[in-house]
Amino acid sequence: MSLKEKINPAKLPEHIAIIMDGNGRWAKQQGEQRIFGHENGVKSVRDTVEAAAEIGIKYLTMYAFSTENWNRPKEEVIALMQLLVYTINAETATLNKNSIRLQAIGDLKSLPPDCYNELQEAIENTKNNSRMTLVLALSYSSRWEIINAVKEIAQKVEDKTLSASEINEDTIAQHLCTANIPDPELMIRTSGEHRISNFLLWQLAYSELYFTDKLWPDFRKEDLFEAILDYQNRERRFGKTSEQLV
Ligand code: FPP
Repeated sequence: MSLKEKINPAKLPEHIAIIMDGNGRWAKQQGEQRIFGHENGVKSVRDTVEAAAEIGIKYLTMYAFSTENWNRPKEEVIALMQLLVYTINAETATLNKNSIRLQAIGDLKSLPPDCYNELQEAIENTKNNSRMTLVLALSYSSRWEIINAVKEIAQKVEDKTLSASEINEDTIAQHLCTANIPDPELMIRTSGEHRISNFLLWQLAYSELYFTDKLWPDFRKEDLFEAILDYQNRERRFGKTSEQLV
């Protein structure tokens, strides 16, 4: 039985989030520049998106560029942005063919204009697709997102369109970039690092975390299936006891 066949379709996570890590180390192992790792990481993105859509995942969020990544060497930042523009442009037709809708979260206005425009165009061109939503986290950090949400909520309180006592979990969730996207049930991080790194801090509150030593450019469909199988064997209690779940 293949790994894919072992997956229980009735217990699929609706949303999977991925921290794609290890491109730089992978390139170094090959004696190449870091960007070579990112270029090969695109193949893993393609394979993972295809696998997720194939088995019926509804939302896939991929951490492509963090707010902190702006501090990397200038050449790497420029090369990554060019790679993003190129990839988004090259993949839009395939997204449409597979009915995948593209969305993005993060401080998108901070992206270079060509990258921003390419992204908006792809989002617009794929907006009616319904099989799966691919969310790219770009110039994203969770603390940035939470600060923004707090500012917007504070403004509403100041304008008296919202009272402070009405603020609840839903108010916060609706002011995050992920408003209308369900929280991920499963978060995967590659490259052996066991950290969340400012990624979806609010949304990951009850997510199952899965870590693999594989470096991102080596991540393939089978690795995604393995992560999902691991998830399906876990008991999600949300603070309750095992007995209460029966
Ligand atoms: C982390 O590896 C990877 C990134 C910061 C960039 C991820 C980007 C891609 C895979 C390419 C484009 C993606 C899309 C969605 C079009 P790292 O550089 O931190 O690796 P290291 O920890 O080994 O240095």
